[in-house]
Amino acid sequence: MTKITVVGSLSMDLVVSASKRPLAGETVIGTNLSLFPGGKGANQAVAAARLGADVTMVGCVGDDAYGEMIVANLASQQVDTSLVKRFTNQTSGTAHITVAEGDNSIIVIKGANDCVSASLIEEARATIAASDIVLTQYEIPLPMIAYLADVCESEGTPLLVNPAPAATVAPETLAKFSYLTPNESEAALIFGQQSRADSFGAFPGELLITLGADGVCFKETTVPAFKVAVTDTTGAGDTFNGAFAVGLAEGQSLAEAVRFGNAAAALSVQKLGAQSGMPTRAAVEELLAK
Ligand code: RIB
Ligand code: NA
Repeated sequence: MTKITVVGSLSMDLVVSASKRPLAGETVIGTNLSLFPGGKGANQAVAAARLGADVTMVGCVGDDAYGEMIVANLASQQVDTSLVKRFTNQTSGTAHITVAEGDNSIIVIKGANDCVSASLIEEARATIAASDIVLTQYEIPLPMIAYLADVCESEGTPLLVNPAPAATVAPETLAKFSYLTPNESEAALIFGQQSRADSFGAFPGELLITLGADGVCFKETTVPAFKVAVTDTTGAGDTFNGAFAVGLAEGQSLAEAVRFGNAAAALSVQKLGAQSGMPTRAAVEELLAK
């Protein structure tokens, strides 16, 4: 079994569905409110665990009911939660999501996700050292991304960074990432408005730019997405990253791991909620065999 560690966010997603999203100053009547465990870190952990990896989550929740639900959900998905800390006098992270007109918009309140610290990453050092790959995203304090990159480098564990939501880090930190998976707007922020070819030249590791329904491009290749009917794309990027990490950890080639990630992401968008549609191994293999 491959071993994957995710250092990242855990949140409760409060998802409102409506036929249209409100304009500034406008009120609309929605159709329903759903609560789903989310957070980019936890989502990527669940995606990888469903596909058969041995996954440890490193992160922070508050001492509220959402925190309890978030941790219980991860445990029910066979994710090791022994490095998920509960902070008193903190609220768990929440994501306020509107699903309307075939797309989502999200406001994230980071809450306890801002408590991820160097001492927590140190506590996870041995787990990181024993992992095939580490995943992270930008919903924890950015200085901790730099700290994590140093730990991964010194432990010799590859680091996959999904730079979402978009932010920039120091060039010396960026240079320590083994894999970077921005979408187009994140890539534009990180690399400036250069051509794609220049962006690839500016990053020493493997850069993979995710293009949504158009697939994923890396080097001279674009691996097309699988065509599916979309219910909710929330968490599609997380499913891609979790699955891509599983492929890499299993020794798949870059192109194979991208295709594996694309298949998982395609299956995930068929249900409302980030984790609800995340596929099992069998479902991904069935789609890949088609
Ligand atoms: O990537 C999707 C996730 O981003 C949601 O689950 C939500 O928590 C937001 O942070
Ligand atoms: Na979904």
